[in-house]
Amino acid sequence: MNLIEDLKWRYATKRMNGEDIPIEKLNVIMEAIRFAPTSMGLQPFKVLIVKDKTIREKMKSVCYNQPQITESALMLVFAVWKDGYEEKTEEFIQLIADTRKQTIESLAEFKNRIFGFLPKVDKVAWATRQAYIAFGFGLAAAAMLKVDSTPMEGFISDELDKVLGLEKLGLKSVVIMAIGNRDEAKDYLVSLPKVRKPKEDFFINY
Ligand SMILES: Cc1cc2nc3c(=O)[nH]c(=O)nc-3n(C[C@H](O)[C@H](O)[C@H](O)COP(=O)(O)O)c2cc1C
Repeated sequence: MNLIEDLKWRYATKRMNGEDIPIEKLNVIMEAIRFAPTSMGLQPFKVLIVKDKTIREKMKSVCYNQPQITESALMLVFAVWKDGYEEKTEEFIQLIADTRKQTIESLAEFKNRIFGFLPKVDKVAWATRQAYIAFGFGLAAAAMLKVDSTPMEGFISDELDKVLGLEKLGLKSVVIMAIGNRDEAKDYLVSLPKVRKPKEDFFINY
């Protein structure tokens, strides 16, 4: 396994062939996303796994008709909490207590820190940043499994929320990922070299 070779292999796949991916590989991608770090560990988002073709057809119309939406094996939709942060923080504290066999009282200081922090930030923007870290983990995991993927921001969030009924779940879609298999015959990008800035222009040594 060579991470850099895998990252060079992956590309934002424009055309997919509609074939499924093995469930074992999907499970690894999902676990990579779940195990990504988040600020304070709060994981303030959910990931929807959309396989249903009818739903994906509806999604496509609010994603500028990008073909990957229906040509992929499935779509992952990263959706952040819109509200209820205090209540969900309480649930998170309970999860820590249960997982680590700690008392709620011993976590009071940590909880107060979170409660002190939340009013100071734009919560949805902050949650979105957390979701993007997990999103990156998912892209890297897919590459390591030789599963094709497309990171996608080309969609109308409010419309996608309606298609997926996210409003009633208290969620807001922020970024989506197509997962599937490249269609080498149709995808013009497949043979093009990757474009990245040279190391010398990108990193700054101090
Ligand atoms: C957050 C994000 C959003 C993107 N949105 C789209 C999109 O909606 N549709 C698409 O075809 N590519 C999309 N891309 C793909 C980028 O254009 C692509 O990653 C970039 O040109 C680098 O190429 P590579 O991923 O093939 O190495 C997106 C990439 C990122 C990271």
